[in-house]
Amino acid sequence: MSIVITGNPGTGKHTISSRLAKELGYTVLDLNQIAIKHGIFEKKDSTRDVDTKKLAKIIKKIIAKDTIIVGHLAPYVVERSQIKLAVILRKNPYKLISIYKRRNYSKLKQTENAASEILGVIAYDSIKKFGLRKSHQIDTSDITIKQTVNKVKLILKKKFKSDDMDWLGMVAKKNDFAKFFPNR
Ligand SMILES: Nc1ncnc2c1ncn2[C@@H]1O[C@H](COP(=O)(O)OP(=O)(O)O)[C@@H](O)[C@H]1O
Ligand SMILES: [Mg+2]
Repeated sequence: MSIVITGNPGTGKHTISSRLAKELGYTVLDLNQIAIKHGIFEKKDSTRDVDTKKLAKIIKKIIAKDTIIVGHLAPYVVERSQIKLAVILRKNPYKLISIYKRRNYSKLKQTENAASEILGVIAYDSIKKFGLRKSHQIDTSDITIKQTVNKVKLILKKKFKSDDMDWLGMVAKKNDFAKFFPNR
């Protein structure tokens, strides 16, 4: 059965997926790559410029057993019955901003993705789509890549459920709402 690795950009999806695939003998199915290959990915600045209906149809056809499906679009294009579990990678929004700056994301793309992380949009959409039982969150802010991979393995063995994170509380304490939710 397949595993979903999702989360906002910069949370560690691709790093973890390739390591995990190697260790478990799974193949990686990258949703962005498939979208590009099929010409349904518009290279605009926003995160959702993909025809998710078309992508869902394609995914249905090509999902094999023991696949790691990776991408922030997973909750919108993968069905609950197609996977055994979904891992939502999370990261401190301040650390995400640093990663986005290094990636030369536009200001808008930086704040949009960090705000989505603070509000837990992908986590919410994953739980809604895949169910609470199949959904697991890992906070990758202060752990190594190896520790993250090990956490996923513990999840597979049903020995770990989910990390807790409170980015909203963190941003409130720092009085930083305007930084992530600017008036436009
Ligand atoms: N615990 C961790 N798990 C995953 N990635 C991590 C971790 N700690 C640091 N990183 C780093 O985070 C950065 C973003 O990872 P990447 O796999 O490109 O994310 P995504 O595919 O979600 O955009 C990489 O430089 C990666 O090495
Ligand atoms: Mg990536």
